[in-house]
Amino acid sequence: MTVVVVGAAGLLGAGTVVEWTTAGHVVRGLTRADLDVTDHPRVLAVIAGLAPDLVINCTAYNKVDDAEGEPTTALGINTWAVRSLAEAAGRAGAVFVHYSTDFVFDGDTDRPYTEEDSPNPQSAYGMSKLMGEWFAQTTSRAPRSSGAPQTARRLYGAPTSYVLRVESLFGGNAARSSLDTMLRKMRAGESVTAFADRTVSPSYVPDVARATRMLVEQQAPGGTYHCVNSDMATWLDVALCVRELAGLPDAEVRGVPSASVNLRAKRPQFAAMSNAKLTSMGIRMPTWQDAVRRHLSS
Ligand SMILES: NC(=O)c1ccc[n+]([C@@H]2O[C@H](COP(=O)([O-])OP(=O)(O)OC[C@H]3O[C@@H](n4cnc5c(N)ncnc54)[C@H](OP(=O)(O)O)[C@@H]3O)[C@@H](O)[C@H]2O)c1
Repeated sequence: MTVVVVGAAGLLGAGTVVEWTTAGHVVRGLTRADLDVTDHPRVLAVIAGLAPDLVINCTAYNKVDDAEGEPTTALGINTWAVRSLAEAAGRAGAVFVHYSTDFVFDGDTDRPYTEEDSPNPQSAYGMSKLMGEWFAQTTSRAPRSSGAPQTARRLYGAPTSYVLRVESLFGGNAARSSLDTMLRKMRAGESVTAFADRTVSPSYVPDVARATRMLVEQQAPGGTYHCVNSDMATWLDVALCVRELAGLPDAEVRGVPSASVNLRAKRPQFAAMSNAKLTSMGIRMPTWQDAVRRHLSS
């Protein structure tokens, strides 16, 4: 398969390039310098030129708090660029993979979210990602042979598209991974603080990338999937697990309530997601603790 990965230098993008290359596919990883995804005509031209079978979008505007002040920048990358990429994939007849987030939910629950639960984003970032999900899943329409109105072109999407919701990513590009930052601090003797009151499903980049490949290779039905490691945790749980597995019992780890930090964007308080739909496709996600263990020994 010829695979184009956009956002190839990111946390997930770097791991995605490794996964598909190792599996023997022809991979073209594009960084921001190669392709600015907000440049609609260039997105169409570059993707057409590469003639991929699969387009994987790992780009994002992830500055959750800054997005409150510059929502149009977030929309440009998380929403409109997704529309461009979906259209480009559709024109190439390529499958489209897009990643989304737990921030599409309001967090007002006490059990892991499923794909059936209604989104209710509470932030500009969450809203921009939800609209990106909608554009990613725009249905493909056959081009009309003649007399097609100008607007018909806007409706092209990929023949099959997958929206994979992930959260609290770690692994991949270590320079961008919060878990690796915690580990560096612990090893340097610095104190680590972590939220003790937000519940998430940590997602290990190599496991997400592998699950994505399995989903696409087995031609699973398109749609939304929660692609997270099994079990749930607070970031305090994650920090304590890292401290134990890294053999750093003296490292100082302090749990703090999220309300103690002045953050502009509202976060979902309970944001764990169920990966049961993925499991029903035969794709079993290991627990996050197992993932941390593998990451620390890699
Ligand atoms: N990280 C998390 O914990 C988390 C949680 C929930 C969901 N997600 C989702 O997971 C996906 C991957 O996130 P990530 O953590 O891997 O993000 P990331 O590390 O921030 O990487 C995003 C990449 O997108 C690139 N990019 C940004 N704007 C661009 C543009 N206009 N044109 C081309 N490239 C552009 C960035 O380029 P530069 O390197 O030049 O900045 C960066 O390499 C995203 O959909 C994100 O919303 C992530």
